[in-house]
Amino acid sequence: MTDHMPDDLSAAGKDMREFTDELRAKFSVVKNISDEWVFLKHADVVAAALDHDRFSSKVSRYLQIPNGLDGLEHSEYRKVIERYLTPEALVPFTESFERIALQLVSELPVGSVFDAVTDVGAIFAVRAQCEWLGWPATLEPLLLDWMKDNHAATRSGDAAWTADVAAKFDDIVRSVIQPRRGAVNSETVDVTSRLCREKVKGRLLSEAELVSILRNWTGGDLGSIALCVGVIIAYLAKHPELAMQLKTAADDEVDAAIDEILRIDNPFVSNRRITTCPVQIGDKTIPAGARVKLNWTSANRDEAVFKKDAFDPAGHREANLVYGIGKHVCPGRLLATIELRVAVKTLLNSINTIELATDQPLVREIAPLGGYHRVPVIIT
Ligand code: HEM
Repeated sequence: MTDHMPDDLSAAGKDMREFTDELRAKFSVVKNISDEWVFLKHADVVAAALDHDRFSSKVSRYLQIPNGLDGLEHSEYRKVIERYLTPEALVPFTESFERIALQLVSELPVGSVFDAVTDVGAIFAVRAQCEWLGWPATLEPLLLDWMKDNHAATRSGDAAWTADVAAKFDDIVRSVIQPRRGAVNSETVDVTSRLCREKVKGRLLSEAELVSILRNWTGGDLGSIALCVGVIIAYLAKHPELAMQLKTAADDEVDAAIDEILRIDNPFVSNRRITTCPVQIGDKTIPAGARVKLNWTSANRDEAVFKKDAFDPAGHREANLVYGIGKHVCPGRLLATIELRVAVKTLLNSINTIELATDQPLVREIAPLGGYHRVPVIIT
């Protein structure tokens, strides 16, 4: 093999998880056709994610708050964001998420095939996010269309298309924040209005900063939640005994099971870094200024740390990297956890059984995405 190992970019048409399983058996780190170094092993991914000095997050020419920031600047914005993601801020949304999930489940066809990714995951993700952010329900079709386009653009690897789709999302976000920015003195308490009143460095957040924060909260995460729902439902349909057990399980047991299902098949594949100095990984020297990808999906299946496909929530919990590690660890973890728990519990408690359709195949997502493209299931 040459130095240019195929991975998520050159692996077009391949299942990322399967592909990185094969690569990881031979290499710790590979270089893809876009000249990015892809870290595959748990130890290397963790070390890089914790080493904020040698691995910078300033990877993009676009404003990315807080994920594209380093050091004190990152901490300053992160502090603002975290206020919206504490248990006190989020737990009160549980009831509305349950209402949304109940409504959605009541709309599912009983006895005929539907797709858990688009018919459950995507719709639930959009409705829950609109509820949390205080966005009007009229945005739902626009956001669902946007998710489809974003998915297709990401799958294609076409940078111009992806940039165009990103710009369309920014337009949606601007349509929500502009009226709220015009009324910053109002008492409106929805999350987006409150965010518009936040200050950094003694001044209000600019429109560009607000768009970046909200893009980060919604743009990427709508897709992640939808993919996560697909992975979880596929797993439960294949493991009816676990589905039965979770129907009556306590919340923390459900959360632990979900985290472990996502560890086995992590659809949130990777994040980027850039080296600030030469770094040694195994027998490879990575130069300063090199672009790096931390592949969470591969690290989460590293045989050196996990019994790869074994379902062991307690045994694997400590090393689980689904939500990352280090200063950039996902601040939305609790929100995602509540949303996924509510979706899974509501579904399981509203049905007798859930099975994979026998006449339609499960379709895996392809690089650079993870998880499933389509999960055809039948409920009774
Ligand atoms: C199941 C769904 C989700 C998964 C698997 C996930 C995973 C991750 C991971 C692995 C990171 C670390 C990135 C890095 O190290 O560069 C991250 C960061 C982040 N996530 Fe999530 N996330 C999810 C849902 C959410 C939600 C619902 C929000 C909404 C607020 C959110 C907001 C963020 C933000 C703002 C960052 C950047 C943090 C920083 O740079 O300090 N995530 N996420």
